[in-house]
Amino acid sequence: MIRYALAAAVVVVGITAAFAQDSVTARRSVMKAISAPHYGVLGAMGRARQPYDQAKVDAAFVALETQVPKIPTLFPADSNKGPDAGSDYYAAPAAFQPQANADIEAKVAAVSKAIADVKGTAKDVASLNAAFTAINNACNACHSVYQARKS
Ligand code: HEC
Repeated sequence: MIRYALAAAVVVVGITAAFAQDSVTARRSVMKAISAPHYGVLGAMGRARQPYDQAKVDAAFVALETQVPKIPTLFPADSNKGPDAGSDYYAAPAAFQPQANADIEAKVAAVSKAIADVKGTAKDVASLNAAFTAINNACNACHSVYQARKS
């Protein structure tokens, strides 16, 4: 009986660890789904590293509008894992304080507002670059507080 209880406890601990890993992975996969259109399309085209393509620009805006509102759900307490081997960056402990919730919501809302404000203004490389910078500044306002770099 005791042996079964122990075996069950080991399984529960194993599942909890797997969920914690999943919640970090979930956060990074959303950030990657954001970084592909943001840096990979808008940023790269704004810096003329790719030929300007209006259809790709428009699709990137739609992708950002879809993904960005998911950000506030990405910081469950069990995903406060600190630095790990897989990335140079991690979520700072401050992101998991209950009092950070309202600030995170506000910073995400600022990103959504920046996207809405510049959507449709990108018509060429110069205007795209301005639009990208406006959104990027809003992303970085959050990263500077809640994203930590491995030292
Ligand atoms: C809640 C504030 C917040 C906002 C707003 C935000 N991020 Fe992040 N982002 C974070 C945090 C915290 C991390 C670190 C997460 C980790 O490493 O687990 C991160 C990580 C990332 C990463 C690295 C993912 C990895 O694999 O390590 C990328 C890329 C990224 N963000 C892009 C963006 C872009 C682009 C925007 C704006 C469109 C944005 N983020 C908006 C908080 C934010």
